[in-house]
Amino acid sequence: MAPAVQSVSPFAPIGVTAALQAAIDPSIKPKVKIFDEFTLTDRVGIVSGGNRGLGLEMALALCEAGARVIYCFDLPTTPSDEWQKTHEFIKQLGNGSRLEYVSVDVRDQQALWAKAQEIGDQERRMDICIAAAGILKSHTDCLTYPAEQFKEVLDVNTNGVLYTAQAAGQQMRRFGQGGSIILIASMSGSITNKDHAWVSYNTSKSAVLQMARSMACELGTENIRVNSLSPGHIYTTMTAAYLDSQPHLLEKWSSLNPMGRIGRPDELRGVVTWLASDASSFCTGSDILVSGGHHAW
Ligand SMILES: NC(=O)c1ccc[n+]([C@@H]2O[C@H](COP(=O)([O-])OP(=O)(O)OC[C@H]3O[C@@H](n4cnc5c(N)ncnc54)[C@H](O)[C@@H]3O)[C@@H](O)[C@H]2O)c1
Repeated sequence: MAPAVQSVSPFAPIGVTAALQAAIDPSIKPKVKIFDEFTLTDRVGIVSGGNRGLGLEMALALCEAGARVIYCFDLPTTPSDEWQKTHEFIKQLGNGSRLEYVSVDVRDQQALWAKAQEIGDQERRMDICIAAAGILKSHTDCLTYPAEQFKEVLDVNTNGVLYTAQAAGQQMRRFGQGGSIILIASMSGSITNKDHAWVSYNTSKSAVLQMARSMACELGTENIRVNSLSPGHIYTTMTAAYLDSQPHLLEKWSSLNPMGRIGRPDELRGVVTWLASDASSFCTGSDILVSGGHHAW
């Protein structure tokens, strides 16, 4: 005997169920193709750290998948040249998708909540949040790590991620349609980068892994899913601070994973679109590692 129906796909009938129904009723034709489940048509989202780097790359992917609008939260009062060009590019997608920029510091909890509330008032929905703002400091000995610097890193990478998730999550709860919150952690939350004295960064990212699990458990019955995404080494402004000044690191970092190379920002497009969309509707409280296999040996 089949268990009681607890949930129904927004695309139903779908999958083998659709095939079985079609066998009984020939008027039922295959209509949903797998990629339909990845579409984000009319979804509204926030991406912190969206002025450049991984955040901007992810924001563009969400727009390509059909999001109505993605709001990029970042520090500068005016967006970067990279952001402006991506903004123009999105206009040319021809799917009506928009990229907006909001200058806000993720360490300011009240400001974040207020900005998200304004977005909710205007858009009348909130579906996606990617908390990608983060900082990495230069090598600092763990035994004499200065308190102020340690706090600074945790303030952005951990507290700021919580405040961003709260801001979007409050709006998701307000509109009662669930949502997907993706906290950008790092493989550095579960491994230590060889020969790098990054105790504050690593600690901040470990906290994000547990934050995602904890929030997922509190919010599951509201269909607000919370997952973390842990990238491996990827060339961005953050890692350029090391790679550009110490070129030998490229070979070293590349040799630390079985693929023998570092990743590209565009290699996170698929996974964030999957996590943001209904294609991952039963995935919550998980950490998704995209590291070229760095953990595998
Ligand atoms: N690049 C990598 O190899 C890598 C690997 C694993 C995880 N990550 C994580 O991915 C995320 C994005 O990193 P990236 O590589 O794109 O770096 P990046 O430095 O290019 O981008 C980080 C963005 O966060 C913004 N930011 C920093 N402090 C902020 C604050 N207080 N308020 C608002 N915005 C703030 C910056 O202005 C910047 O635009 C970070 O959380 C980082 O830790 C990166």
